[in-house]
Amino acid sequence: MSLPTINIFSKQMPKLGIGTWGIGGYMTKSPYSDYINEITQIKFQISKGLSLIDCWIAQGEGGSLELIRQAIEEFDRQKLTLMCKFDIHKYKNATELEVIFQQYLKQLNTDYLDVFEIHRPVFSAVSEKEVESFLKEKIKTRKIRAFAVSNATSNDLINIGKKMSVPIGAVEILYNIFDRESESNGTIAYCQKKKIPIIAYRPLNRGMSNIAHTIEDFGKIVSKYNATPNQVALNWLLKKEGVMALLKSSNRAHINENLDSMAFELSLEDCQVIDSLKLR
Ligand SMILES: NC(=O)c1ccc[n+]([C@@H]2O[C@H](COP(=O)([O-])OP(=O)(O)OC[C@H]3O[C@@H](n4cnc5c(N)ncnc54)[C@H](OP(=O)(O)O)[C@@H]3O)[C@@H](O)[C@H]2O)c1
Repeated sequence: MSLPTINIFSKQMPKLGIGTWGIGGYMTKSPYSDYINEITQIKFQISKGLSLIDCWIAQGEGGSLELIRQAIEEFDRQKLTLMCKFDIHKYKNATELEVIFQQYLKQLNTDYLDVFEIHRPVFSAVSEKEVESFLKEKIKTRKIRAFAVSNATSNDLINIGKKMSVPIGAVEILYNIFDRESESNGTIAYCQKKKIPIIAYRPLNRGMSNIAHTIEDFGKIVSKYNATPNQVALNWLLKKEGVMALLKSSNRAHINENLDSMAFELSLEDCQVIDSLKLR
């Protein structure tokens, strides 16, 4: 079965996006990364239809953007969605927004960003009004197409909605079989009610879902569908209304395993069993 799709940022796309944490280095540029493999695996995922790519300028001191730029250059730019993170809570003033924006354009070799995403909904030196006027001008000139917020709760979204008139196109949050805070704090329910698409980051809990079959109730479900623990964890997540996932892999076997995660139909009862698991 092919991946389910979602309408997000005015596009219909597969419910899996390309995560990039660690490519080209973590918080510093790494000379040990296998750059060629990382570029090759991003290209492979795009060739399989994945189109949302997470871009964070701070990662690998810009090194990950360099790999993304090389990976995307042979594809139709308009079919890709580059979601770019802005650490507004760290900027000293509004001018820095423009500087970072220009750096994204240059490093990704593009003339527009699909998504301007606030990495954390913490406004300090740069206020909501400043971000709003920056965004409005960029959206008007088609230099930015959509707005998203990461690491936000429903309360954050309500507050932003009161202070900024730019519509929130999606919220990106930590969500997987282990991490359920966004369920218990009402964020998932709020977004579903308001039809705000949810992008679940770390959907396999950094590969830890691999061992979830050792939990008895989960293990029984894994055996029943003859699937892998990761596939069940991903299937459960992607079946949820309005939820897509941002998943990172630079390993071809893992990517194929993940792409095949919807090859079976988890029953409603089994989804409910996983819903009720307390894994932390
Ligand atoms: N907004 C935020 O604050 C925030 C925070 C964290 C992450 N993110 C974004 O979300 C993306 C996904 O989160 P994540 O990278 O933290 O975690 P993740 O996608 O849950 O897991 C990625 C890790 O799991 C491994 N993996 C992937 N598929 C696997 C499989 N089938 N079997 C075994 N291992 C597998 C990967 O290694 P291999 O490469 O070896 O497959 C990688 O080490 C990130 O890459 C990043 O783009 C955003």
